[in-house]
Parts: sequence; structure tokens; C-alpha cells
Amino acid sequence: MSTTPQSTPSAPRKILVLGATSGIAEATCRIWASQGASLFLVARNAEKLAAVAADLKTRGASYVDTAVADLDDTDQHPSLLAHAINSLTGMDIAYLAHGVLGDQAEAEREFNTAAQILHTNFMAPVSLLTWLANFCVQRHAGTLAVISSVAGDRGRKSNYVYGSSKAGLSAFLGGLRNRVDREGVTVLAIKPGPTKTAMTANMPKSETFADVDSVAEAIVSAIDKRKDVLYVPFKWQPIMFVIRNIPERVFKKLNL
Ligand SMILES: NC(=O)c1ccc[n+]([C@@H]2O[C@H](COP(=O)([O-])OP(=O)(O)OC[C@H]3O[C@@H](n4cnc5c(N)ncnc54)[C@H](OP(=O)(O)O)[C@@H]3O)[C@@H](O)[C@H]2O)c1
Repeated sequence: MSTTPQSTPSAPRKILVLGATSGIAEATCRIWASQGASLFLVARNAEKLAAVAADLKTRGASYVDTAVADLDDTDQHPSLLAHAINSLTGMDIAYLAHGVLGDQAEAEREFNTAAQILHTNFMAPVSLLTWLANFCVQRHAGTLAVISSVAGDRGRKSNYVYGSSKAGLSAFLGGLRNRVDREGVTVLAIKPGPTKTAMTANMPKSETFADVDSVAEAIVSAIDKRKDVLYVPFKWQPIMFVIRNIPERVFKKLNL
């Protein structure tokens, strides 16, 4: 699947995608492929990854290489990331998309289930971002675009374990941005509302959720504009402002 990345006056952007088989990541990569980007894709399911890579190649990506990795395995991150950047011969954008919703009810009974959700959604991104941020700071360039969630803006009873993993991630991204922005590195926290992907397919009313292609378009545009935070669809920005400001004495009585 790999060929040597092209070096032209307007060289294609070099993009590392972690969790490349995610519905949102795939839709985002389809846009980047049509722009002729160079892509390095990481996912844990080899078969799905090969299908995504082949599709992106036919859609116009100028270079596609892949690695199969379980991103829970943080010990492997340094060698994985070094290999990816070597393959791309640099990196303009790192896009972190992997995550699990997890089983909230099970996580209420069983700490190990909660710990697993926190590990995949928080500890693994922290490990990846620590390495990637230091790489970008050394070069005074690069964008780290990371999918958090509106669920991280306030814990609620129906998904507070997932929500707290994303709250931790959003807080980490805020602090990281505060550190690396002055070094020329952009950190984008992406906060989607409910979106139609495999993650939400079994949820009630999932047919009303946001379309993954429009979410992906907004993500590409926010990266191009070097934004700090993206609520997508936009309506979630005012909605979450209201939800964050509901007094706790009221909020604790709500069924959310
Ligand atoms: N869909 C929504 O409503 C929504 C809303 C807010 C935020 N988000 C966030 O958006 C991101 C993308 O999710 P999505 O909606 O596109 O759902 P998705 O299609 O289910 O994608 C999740 C991806 O994460 C991968 N993954 C999970 N654990 C992994 C691990 N240990 N190592 C490597 N890959 C792993 C999955 O791989 P497999 O395919 O192998 O399982 C899958 O490709 C996630 O961070 C999610 O939390 C989604």
C-alpha cells in the first residue's frame, strides 16, 4: 500500500490518524484523501484497516501506509509513533479518534470496567499526546486534533464514566494547548454531540443523530482554521453552556 511520499512545491499534508477505522475518522480521511493528503493510519482491526486504506487510496490520497496496533498498549506508543512519522517523512497533523463508549451499568458495578474505559479514552491519548507534543515542540510546528466529547462537559448519570474520561481528556488538552501554543503547535479539542457511527448505532433515536460526513467537514475546517475547540454540530456549544450552568441542586434531580 505504501509508496514514497511526493515532494512537490505544494507538498501534500502529512497526517497521522490514530483510530483510523472509527466512523468519524474514516469520514474525515475521505475528505483529506480527496485533497491528496499523505496518510498514516493506525487501527487495531487489520481487516477493517486494510479496507479503509484501500478506499482512501482510490479517493486520491497521495500516500497511504498503515500499522495495526491496540492503542491501549502504551508501551508500544513511542516506537509506533516514530515509525509512523518516519514513514510519512514528517507530520503536519496528528488526529486522535479512537475511543470506547463502554458499558456504564457494568462500570457502576465493576471497577475494572470503569478503569478500562478510562485507560482507552484518557490514559492512552495522554501517552500518545505527550510524545507527539514533544515532537511538535521541537519543530515549532504541527497540529494535534483530538476527539473528546460534549459528554465531558458535565457528568450525568447515564454515562458519567465515559463522560469523565472525556472531561479528563478535555482538561488535558486545555493545559497542553496553554503550554505548546507559544511554541507554534496547535491543539484542537473536538467535541462532537451524538453522531451516527457504530458507537451509537444501538442507541434510541440514533437516526436523528448528526451525519458523520458533516461532522467530518467541520473537523477539517476547524483544523484548517487552527481553532482551539470545536463543538460539532455547532448547536452543542450553547446547549452545553446552559447544561454546565445548571445549579447542582437542580441538576442532581434531572434524568439525563
Ligand atoms: N459517535 C458519537 O456520537 C460520538 C460523540 C462524541 C464523541 N465521540 C468520539 O469520537 C471518537 C470516534 O468515535 P466514533 O463515533 O467514530 O465511533 P466508532 O466508529 O465506534 O470508532 C471508535 C474507534 O475506536 C477504535 N478503538 C477503540 N479502542 C481502541 C484501541 N484500544 N486501540 C485501537 N483502536 C481502538 C475502534 O476500533 P474497532 O473498530 O477495532 O473497535 C473504532 O475504530 C471516539 O473518541 C468517541 O468517543 C463519538
